[in-house]
Amino acid sequence: MTEPVTILLSTRNRGKLVELQHLLGDFPARLLTAEDAGLGHLDVAEPGETLLENATLKALAYGQASGLPTLSDDSGLFVEALGGLPGVNTAYYGGPAKLVAVLEGIPAPRRAYFACVIVLWTPDGSLQHVEGRIEGQITPELRGAGGFGYDPVFMPDGFNETFAELGVEVKNPISHRGRAVTAALPMLRALLA
Ligand code: IMP
Repeated sequence: MTEPVTILLSTRNRGKLVELQHLLGDFPARLLTAEDAGLGHLDVAEPGETLLENATLKALAYGQASGLPTLSDDSGLFVEALGGLPGVNTAYYGGPAKLVAVLEGIPAPRRAYFACVIVLWTPDGSLQHVEGRIEGQITPELRGAGGFGYDPVFMPDGFNETFAELGVEVKNPISHRGRAVTAALPMLRALLA
């Protein structure tokens, strides 16, 4: 049996760890939060203009502090009619109700995509990254009680329901994060060698 590899996540959020563990399936990893690794809060600024810059800053900070292989991720929602906003600033934008109000009057389809960048720092100092995307549109109203963030207003291409209506069993394998994790598997497998 392959020994699991220990990987630090550049977060203190245990929910993110549980979600990633689930997305990794049977990949043999022992995931740690920053707290598990005995790291205090690292106040990493996220001044970047791209998801990749921000994820890289976090991976470097936590990786160099711990010496452990470190994964970080950064996600955002990019709305075509808003020139790609809120994008890298999605966490600070104000929520799905605000987005629906801002887009009022703009005819369907209001194209948008979620993107997730995952960066891996390894103790030899190298950085690698992958990206996952899911294309879709913003609905004219909030739909569905499940999910979080912009799930109630994001309808992925090929479906007539929002992420919030579809639920995690349908969402996770096709989501930006799910696709990024799948894309990350080869670089994670290299850690097992
Ligand atoms: P984070 O980088 O994963 O923390 O994502 C930044 C922000 O994007 C979050 O605060 C959410 O508002 C939004 N977001 C990211 N992923 C999703 C998702 O899967 N569903 C809904 N909103 C998301």
